[in-house]
Amino acid sequence: MTSTRTPIIAGNWKMQHGGRSGCELAAAIRRDLADPRGVSVVVAPPFTALAAVSAELDGSAISVAGQNMHAAGSGAFTGEISAAMLKEAGASWVILGHSERRQLFGETDAGVAEKTGAALAAGLRPIVCVGETLAERDAGRTFDVVLAQVAAVTATLAPSAGHAIAYEPVWAIGTGRNATAAQAEEVHARIRALLAETSVALAEATPILYGGSVKPDNAAALLSCPNVDGALVGGASLDSRQFLAIVAAAHGP
Ligand code: 13P
Repeated sequence: MTSTRTPIIAGNWKMQHGGRSGCELAAAIRRDLADPRGVSVVVAPPFTALAAVSAELDGSAISVAGQNMHAAGSGAFTGEISAAMLKEAGASWVILGHSERRQLFGETDAGVAEKTGAALAAGLRPIVCVGETLAERDAGRTFDVVLAQVAAVTATLAPSAGHAIAYEPVWAIGTGRNATAAQAEEVHARIRALLAETSVALAEATPILYGGSVKPDNAAALLSCPNVDGALVGGASLDSRQFLAIVAAAHGP
């Protein structure tokens, strides 16, 4: 991390804690996060818990994110949620293009770009997820895949947009096998170099988070990399103590 970008630790609860237990988890995080010390802390509950978790966290330093949204403002899209609805429920962030959305629900680079533009237009801060599969890494295609995913959204971004990018290698998600700090830094640096081709200001302003089996015992090493500006945490964000230990790792010594 560099001193110019605020570190971000975001918890992606995925399809867990969609009701009362989400409020309990949020309340525990709020209670024990005595002082975020310059770290931006975000939780992403399922849609059904968004409003209640937002109310639970009202007045705290913890922000709330949706896990997905539709690009349209409203309309006949059964089962979908708009950016304005997320905002109304208390979200200020939205995770877009998570690999589970891309792999299991057919999301494309073009669709993720459309959603990113729509989120920004609505005043929501997107966390755009990118990452290669194990087969793509083994085939030496990591940079091709990841940089193409980033390139797809670059035109929608501006230095002051408030967005973030999350590099989440698919082989590291939920596997307990995190990228090493060197592997993460290598990809993050390439992402930042790509952003710099658009503008140096955009590259400098964009927080690039790492996600994939981030745990209290590996967070400090990952977060100490110059181009790793935070973490998008899955499993470990479901336990307030583990999540807050990762937030503490972002403070530095
Ligand atoms: P895990 O931390 O469980 O590997 O999940 C990472 C992730 O997908 C966050 O979005």
